[in-house]
Amino acid sequence: MVQKATKMARLSVDGEDSVFELPVYSGTEGQDVINVGSLTSKGYFTYDPGFVSTAACDSEITYIDGDKGILLHRGYPIEQLAEQSNYLELCYLLLNEELPSSAQQAEFVDTIKHHTMVHEQLVHFFRGFRRDAHPMAIMCGVTGALSAFYHDSLDIDNAEHRRITAHRLIAKMPTLAAMSYKYATGQPFIFPRNDLDYAENFLHMMFATPCEDYKVNPVIAKAMDKIFLLHADHEQNASTSTVRLAGSTGANPFACIAAGIAALWGPSHGGANEAVLTMLDEIGDVKNIDKFVAKAKDPDDDFRLMGFGHRVYKNYDPRAKVMQQTCHEVLAELGVEDSPTLKMAQRLEQIALEDEYFVKRRLYPNVDFYSGIILKAIGIPVEMFTVMFATGRTPGWIAHWNEMIGAPYKIGRPRQLYKGHSARDYVPVGKR
Ligand code: SDX
Repeated sequence: MVQKATKMARLSVDGEDSVFELPVYSGTEGQDVINVGSLTSKGYFTYDPGFVSTAACDSEITYIDGDKGILLHRGYPIEQLAEQSNYLELCYLLLNEELPSSAQQAEFVDTIKHHTMVHEQLVHFFRGFRRDAHPMAIMCGVTGALSAFYHDSLDIDNAEHRRITAHRLIAKMPTLAAMSYKYATGQPFIFPRNDLDYAENFLHMMFATPCEDYKVNPVIAKAMDKIFLLHADHEQNASTSTVRLAGSTGANPFACIAAGIAALWGPSHGGANEAVLTMLDEIGDVKNIDKFVAKAKDPDDDFRLMGFGHRVYKNYDPRAKVMQQTCHEVLAELGVEDSPTLKMAQRLEQIALEDEYFVKRRLYPNVDFYSGIILKAIGIPVEMFTVMFATGRTPGWIAHWNEMIGAPYKIGRPRQLYKGHSARDYVPVGKR
């Protein structure tokens, strides 16, 4: 997208007469950006490990104000979407920029429903995994394998192919997720059902068996839908940036989403929800909290409070507040509101928010802090938590991929500050 400079930045380097004039661009919201692309021709690269201060693209999908704890999807605040919308409506919004009319929503829901099955041959891919394989390993494998089944829609320059692929991925991720759970339990896969809504269908595929009818609890289904909604997109996070980078090579969208799943798996990113429950189990009792908070503050201890801190939010993650409220609703519905795990999480949060170390570093609970408690209460095993995150995040990944591919783009190819050996001659082994 061609940008128009709103002002100029000037950069001078000690010992050089020239002053580099760099165009500054302004967005609708948020920080202005300085286009440093011309620096290479002047003999310099910018240096920003971890991309702390780097805008890698322009985008119209999601806006985050980390200082104010604001999250907008196509301009709509996450709090209003969580309260008034639902997951598939948000999927439509992320993909199409506007909220659907009732007719558009009905058509979209019907389209997604009729893409929830996977090819029967795909079942054999599961058989290759050990039963104790981590479900994220399975999801990386089978999602990438989907590209082998859709040769009819892999022309990424064809908008219709991109559209059908988005629908297939949104529709099939819950099916694949439930299959990865069933495979681990040794129970038979449960087919999707078109008489159920998205979250109900997912829970049915997870917990139904062929032996008897399974009734989905509507409160749990509503909570599951909200969990997917809260995870749907989050600007240029590590996994979305991975999807964009993979997509910039022209790789097929299934391979790009598989790359996103792999990146999400890490405990610093989507793997944090699983790590929060592991951490709470390790703490074990409220009386041990102070010891673990001390470990988190100790610069010589690499222990971190999982579910705390964020690269962008230096305020409460707005999703965490909604997740906390949903947590209370689910636990009350299940009659376990006095869950020791919840009490420990609430005590940990209270201690951390009052502690100078966390206050000074502006470390607040993030989306992962409460999600795991809800998922555990619903009966979803800890190793499936990041699969839930990946399922929820799919529309965000595919919307960013589609936004990039649908406009002119360049292959992503960062440079480096080289600190290795300068050129030297080879020494034969006899002379070393
Ligand atoms: C997600 O990017 C996204 O949008 C991600 C996400 C999404 O929706 O896609 O929001 C989802 O990934 C949420 C984050 C989940 N991860 C965790 O909960 C893991 C625990 N948190 C951290 O590891 C950490 O906070 C990160 C990785 C999330 C952010 O790390 P940064 O931005 O690189 O910050 P940093 O590591 O430089 O930390 C700054 C300081 C450091 O101390 P000092 O060197 O200044 O003394 O804060 C400390 C860190 O040691 N710190 C923590 C901490 N997080 C940061 N100390 C203790 N516990 C923590 N959790």
